[in-house]
Amino acid sequence: MRGFWLLVHVLGFTLWLGGGIATMVAGVSAKRLGAGERLSAYRLIGAIQRLLVGPGAIAVVLSGIFLAQPYMKQGVVPAWLGVMMISGILGALGAVGVSVPTAAKLSRLQPEGGQLPAAFQTLRKRQILAATIAGGFGLIAMFAATLGRG
Ligand code: HEM
Repeated sequence: MRGFWLLVHVLGFTLWLGGGIATMVAGVSAKRLGAGERLSAYRLIGAIQRLLVGPGAIAVVLSGIFLAQPYMKQGVVPAWLGVMMISGILGALGAVGVSVPTAAKLSRLQPEGGQLPAAFQTLRKRQILAATIAGGFGLIAMFAATLGRG
C-alpha cells in the first residue's frame, strides 16, 4: 500500500508543480497578445489550474497524510519530513484556496470595448502573488525531501 500512496504523492506534485510552471510560462507568453487572445490564454490557464494544480495539490496532502502514519505512530518526525509536511500543506492551501479560484475568475473575463476589463490587473496580481507563494512552498517541500535528507 505504501507504494501506491508514494505513486499518488509523486503524481500529485508532478501535476501541481508542473501545472504551476505551465501557468507561469503561459501567463508571460500571453503578455504579447491582444486583449481577446490574452483572455483566451487565461481560459486555458484556468483549465490547467482546475484540472492539474488543484487535484494535484489535494492528492499530495492526502497521500502525505497516509505516508506519514508510521512516523505519527512512532511519534518521531525527522526534520526534513516536518519541513515537507508544513510547507507542503501551506503551499496546497495557497494553491487550492487562492490560486485556483483566482484563475477561475480570470478565465471568465470578457474584453470590454476591445480592452482588458478593469478587474484583470487586480486578479492577475493576486494570481501571481498566490501562485508564487504556493509554488515556493512546494519547492521548499521538494528540497526538504531530497537535499534535506542528506
Ligand atoms: C509539494 C509538496 C511535496 C513534495 C514535493 C513532496 C515530496 C516528497 C518526496 C520526493 C518523497 C519521497 C522521499 C523518499 O522516500 O525518499 C516524499 C515522501 C513523503 N512525503 Fe512528501 N512531499 C510534499 C508534500 C508532503 C505533505 C504535505 C506531506 C504530509 C502531509 C508529506 C508527507 C510525506 C511522507 C510521510 C513521505 C514518506 C517518507 C518516508 O517514509 O520515507 N509530503 N515526499
